[in-house]
Amino acid sequence: MKGVVLSGGHGTRLRPLTHTGPKQLIPIANKPNILYCLEDLRDAGITDIGIVLGDIMPERVREALGDGSEWGLNLTYIEQGAPRGIAHAILCAEAFVGEEAFCVYLGDNVLKESIRPMVEAFAQGADAAAVLLARVPHPERFGVVEVDADGRVLSLVEKPKEPKSDLALVGIYLLRPNIFPVIRGLKPSWRNELEITDALDRLREAGSDLKAHVVTGWWKDTGRPEDILEANRLLLDDIEAANEGTVEKGARVEGRVRIGPESTVKEGSVVKGPAVIGRNCVIGPDTYVGPYTSVGDGCRLIGADIEASILIGESLIETPNKIVNSLIGRHTTIRAANDRLPRGQQLIVGENSTLVL
Ligand code: DAU
Repeated sequence: MKGVVLSGGHGTRLRPLTHTGPKQLIPIANKPNILYCLEDLRDAGITDIGIVLGDIMPERVREALGDGSEWGLNLTYIEQGAPRGIAHAILCAEAFVGEEAFCVYLGDNVLKESIRPMVEAFAQGADAAAVLLARVPHPERFGVVEVDADGRVLSLVEKPKEPKSDLALVGIYLLRPNIFPVIRGLKPSWRNELEITDALDRLREAGSDLKAHVVTGWWKDTGRPEDILEANRLLLDDIEAANEGTVEKGARVEGRVRIGPESTVKEGSVVKGPAVIGRNCVIGPDTYVGPYTSVGDGCRLIGADIEASILIGESLIETPNKIVNSLIGRHTTIRAANDRLPRGQQLIVGENSTLVL
């Protein structure tokens, strides 16, 4: 079986972070989102994977993943360009897929459980397609599926105003090449996209069996900043302590904390897990890093106080003001105001930023 991982789209709800790269590369617990998807596929035995690239700095994806051999993968890059829908992105992968069954994985999804059982069942069975579902409190934000008692799909609708169930489509689809002619016959939806939800519904209408699996562990679609922070919390809940750096005398590290090579926790500082600190970071002096924080490579935190946040990397935080529930892009400086007049918050902020002061 082959894999197709989608890395396109515009990630508008994640601006300004997505002005400088695709959202699938945003690190969660210090690892790019898309790598969780790739590792899940690999652990299900799928190593021949096509990555569908969009038009926001796609070269960043190639730079980050290369040929995939570092992770035991064989990657092929496929250009989609502008986002014309998930089904359109899948159609771009037609030549790569050939005659094989394949697993589509949206590169902004994170799943606790392995997809392996679902992949194995599909490979052995004769279903035309299989989808993964999760119970959610706001199904209207997703593709919504009705299922019968035997796990057969009865209907699929993309973001319905009046959902017929609380079962949302997780961004993982098991398909066969007979989906391609169905996609070719689609018309763009109200959001001007070719929808995979519509393609699957047509397949079902034409008499094909679609199998539904429901996740029991957590699932996160990381489309919004609050989803990324939540995924960060969920992933950090599972980390194990490891220290490849230095904890100076007079510094304290409590709970499950992972500290990368060439990083130092300096005097007077406290790091309370679960938390991860990347490589080449300086934490302190007199800095507090609280639970559910991910500090990316090359960050310096001086007299800082941060909790439940993500620092993507190469940033300087030098203020005692507490920072919480924050998602901070690369090369950011946050300093304390000095006493010179006029006093007040000084902001040099890019387009589409959010500041809560
Ligand atoms: O995450 C689950 C949901 O994903 C499903 O419940 C929905 O049925 C499905 O339509 C999708 O909804 P979203 O509104 O979240 O889709 P989004 O536009 O965010 O795109 C999902 C992923 O696919 C994301 O990683 C970007 C990528 N993508 C998207 C489009 C439209 C592409 O690579 N190319 C595209 O043209």
